[in-house]
Parts: sequence; structure tokens; C-alpha cells
Amino acid sequence: MKQYFYLFNYPPEEYDLCALEFKYLFHEEYQQCFITNKDIDVNISVFMKGKIDIWAISSNFDDLKEEVKRQNHNHQDFKVIYLKNPISHPDYQETLDKCKDISWFIAGSVNMSKPKHTIALTKVNDLWIIGYYHHGVPSWKKYDDKPNTFSNSLDIRLARTLINIAGENDQTKTMIDPCCGMGTVVLEGLALGYSIKGFDISRDISWKARCNLNHFGFDGMLITKDDINKHQGHYDIAIIDIPYNLYTPITYKEQCDIINSARKLCNKLVLVSYEQMDQEIKQAGFEIRNRILRKKTEFVKFGRYIYVCY
Ligand SMILES: C[S@@+](CC[C@H](N)C(=O)[O-])C[C@H]1O[C@@H](n2cnc3c(N)ncnc32)[C@H](O)[C@@H]1O
Repeated sequence: MKQYFYLFNYPPEEYDLCALEFKYLFHEEYQQCFITNKDIDVNISVFMKGKIDIWAISSNFDDLKEEVKRQNHNHQDFKVIYLKNPISHPDYQETLDKCKDISWFIAGSVNMSKPKHTIALTKVNDLWIIGYYHHGVPSWKKYDDKPNTFSNSLDIRLARTLINIAGENDQTKTMIDPCCGMGTVVLEGLALGYSIKGFDISRDISWKARCNLNHFGFDGMLITKDDINKHQGHYDIAIIDIPYNLYTPITYKEQCDIINSARKLCNKLVLVSYEQMDQEIKQAGFEIRNRILRKKTEFVKFGRYIYVCY
């Protein structure tokens, strides 16, 4: 069975967020270097640094070379790189020598300056791993440059991560963002191939979100003007960035009404809030599976709480 090696990277304050996303994408506890048979596109996550489609694993480098030779790989314009990982740190010269050494067992032509194919070699504890390398491309940055935005919009990294936590890479799930603001989450959901819609109680805001979707070539009509407390649909998942009384005038009771209405709307809820709302979420009938605090930087106390509830 094919195996894949994943390498993750995050700023210290985003460790919890990265680990939570990992849990919902891979259904295992977080590991910074991870080998699995789950094949997930490296570009869907802001935390995935790289992925190796593994050709061979061995504690013996000669055996590794033999296995690569046996598989008859042939690439024009390839380069073998050593992929640094946080677990093992072989000597730099050794990594260069090993990359050069193993490249003789791959047919085709080497192109060190502009390779079309990258083959990665890495060592984790005593195991050498080699295979075809995919480097994460920050494709999500594309939707950062929206025509309409406001100061309480979610940042794009968080929006994408919420989609991964919510959808678990299962594009058959239906999603709704019922307080969609400028459509940040809806855009990320559409980019990742989900069936996602959004609405917002404000006519002006929902119109601007619609324009944002149109701007990126998506169907603007996926955004409507509606009130979560009156909405009739049912979805597998809702993602709610709860309005708070900083930019949008809202009372505590209205916040609770939104959470109560979410219970009728979805099976799974990913909720973002500025304050802890455990009691309110439980009273609405949800079971909280996870709660993390995502801080803006390592040095501040406050941030946004992210809840995963069923
Ligand atoms: C925190 S903002 C969402 C921001 C959004 N995540 C973004 O990135 O642009 C909350 C939004 O909820 C909307 N809202 C407030 N009460 C609502 C309700 N009852 N039904 C639907 N939307 C509501 C507000 O108009 C506001 O745009």
C-alpha cells in the first residue's frame, strides 16, 4: 500500500490550531513528521510544509538505493534534495553526499537550477525515507485580496483551517456559514471543493460578500440575506464566527439565540468566539469535542476560541 510522509510547520502560537486541524484531517493525534497511507493534497492546509510520496524506507542506505533502482524511476530534469525535519539532524555534508549518491539510481537527467521534478530524501530517527516531493504552495493567499472586507473579517489562514476542521477533507459534506460577513469562509470552502453557502442578516454585508464571490469567479448567488433564527435549511456542518459587540451591535441574548438556532441547522458546528462560551454551547444542546484558543501572537493572552461541537 502506498505511503506518504507529511511535514508540518507553524508559528509557536498556532500549535494548537495546527494540531486540531491534523486531528480532523488525519483522525490521529498530531505528529510533526507523519507517515500514513492517507493521500491528502499538501496545498489544502496552511500548515503542511511538504509531502513525500514514499518510494522506499530503510534504516540501511544501501538497501534504500537498491529499492529505488528496482523501481525504475525515470524523470527528466530532476533534483534530489535533503528535506530537513525537526526530529533528526544528520551532518550537512552527509546529506549532500547521500543525495548525490542516490541520484545515480534514478534514470533521466539532473537539473539542479530549474528542476521539473523534486525527489526528497530525509532521515527520521534511524530511517531513511525517499520519494517524490510536493512542496506546499500558499494557494489560499489568492482570496486575501478581496474587493470588500471589514476589520472583523477572519484572517484567511484561519478561514482555511476552519474549513479543514469542519469538512475533514470529505467534499460530500454540505456546509453553511450563517453569519458569513464578507464571505471569507465561504470562499475558502469553495476553493477546497465543498458544497458551501452563506448568508448574513445585513443586506449591505451579504451584497458585498456576493460581490466577493463573483470577483473570484464563483457563483455570488450562494450568498443570501437571511437571519439564522428564521432560516429553514439543514446542513452537515455550520461554521459560525459569532458576532460580538465590537463592530456589530449585538446583545448577549442575540449571541445565545444564534447558538440555539445553530443546533437546528447542523449536525456539526465549528464556532469561533471572542469569549469562552462553553455554557451557552452546552445549553443549546451541543457536545463540545474540542476547544482551543488561537492567539494572534505568542505574547498576547487573548485571541479567538475555536470550538468543535456535535
Ligand atoms: C463576526 S462577523 C462575521 C465575519 C466573517 N466571518 C468574515 O470573515 O467576514 C458576524 C456577522 O454576523 C452577522 N449576523 C448578526 N446576527 C445575525 C443573524 N441573526 N443571522 C445572520 N447573520 C447575523 C453580522 O451581520 C456580521 O456580518
